[in-house]
Amino acid sequence: MVKAVVLGAAGGIGQPLSLLLKTNPLISELSLYDIVNTPGVAADLSHIATPAKVQGFLPADDGLKKALTGADIVVIPAGVPRKPGMTRDDLFKINAGIVRDLATGIATTAPKAFVLVISNPVNSTVPIVAEVFKKNGVFDPKRIFGVTTLDVVRASTFVSEILGDLSLAPSIKVPVVGGHSGVTIVPLLSQSSHPLPTSLKGDALDKLVNRIQFGGDEVVKAKDGAGSATLSMAYAGAEFAEKLLRAAKGEKGIVAPTYVHLSADKAGGDAIKKEIGKDLDYFSAPVELGPEGVVKINSLGKINEYEQKLIQAALPDLATNIEKGASFIDAPK
Ligand code: NAD
Ligand code: LMR
Repeated sequence: MVKAVVLGAAGGIGQPLSLLLKTNPLISELSLYDIVNTPGVAADLSHIATPAKVQGFLPADDGLKKALTGADIVVIPAGVPRKPGMTRDDLFKINAGIVRDLATGIATTAPKAFVLVISNPVNSTVPIVAEVFKKNGVFDPKRIFGVTTLDVVRASTFVSEILGDLSLAPSIKVPVVGGHSGVTIVPLLSQSSHPLPTSLKGDALDKLVNRIQFGGDEVVKAKDGAGSATLSMAYAGAEFAEKLLRAAKGEKGIVAPTYVHLSADKAGGDAIKKEIGKDLDYFSAPVELGPEGVVKINSLGKINEYEQKLIQAALPDLATNIEKGASFIDAPK
């Protein structure tokens, strides 16, 4: 029996993500929480002929607590999205407080749940969740994840386009590491499961890397003020949740890049710090998942000179974003 909870379930991501979770046979109970509209979304989804029992909750009558009671996995897509011209960091002002309050609810009601943070800026909101958990004495770095799967999904798609065959997209694996914003997104294309043409270098390679790093902007621009990626994010969030649930059930060898506190696996985390040459607390790396969450943080593998430069370019922003999130919560260190 697995209970999944979506916080921000009535939103652009929340609705399609809840739909995908409702169709996941590993989930037996699905609770939807938002400040608006969850009774309607829940009633709608509840007619789908799959096992999960769906319920909707609003803030009134202790709705957050009721939604979270007994949760095994909590996904957070609550908060405002970007408009053209904004950075993800511009969302901090509003989303930091939203994520802090939701994290407080999880820490006090379902402290053992896996927490999947989608709300931007992920580089800072994950440290916020971690600090709230520390403050409540329930921090377990193995169970808190920043969802960076959309970057991985985009890398697969864009590489398949370069290879001229979109049907390859589902099987193309490219590790994307670092963080989740602009230059902190670092695709390790030299490790692509499907090698790129050797002719792809110079400007053409820069262009592909830039497209993966700024894929979010492509959608924000196309939506022209109506928000950012929602459907592709729902797909990516459901994919990561599915991997975690399969690993929790005991399936071995499931590895996915995700943004975690590097103490989740001390040896692996220390090795990452060595590889990047900086003592950061958080980094998105390929993580092996298991019943307790993080089993092992894997090495970044063989990185070429070009990728090492991308990593070095990511570090200053990443350090600033992490500090901004962590210091938002006044937790004992
Ligand atoms: P949206 O505005 O469509 O939906 C957000 C939902 O959050 C709304 O339904 C709103 O009512 C709800 N909400 C606001 N405050 C809340 C609170 N205190 N408690 C519960 N729910 C609350 O936005 P969206 O397009 O779904 O995007 C949501 C977030 O996800 C944004 O911050 C966006 O930047 C981020 N995002 C992250 C990724 C990623 O790769 N990690 C990808 C896309 C979007
Ligand atoms: C994305 O990568 O699509 C999301 O982080 C949303 C955004 O603001 O770009």
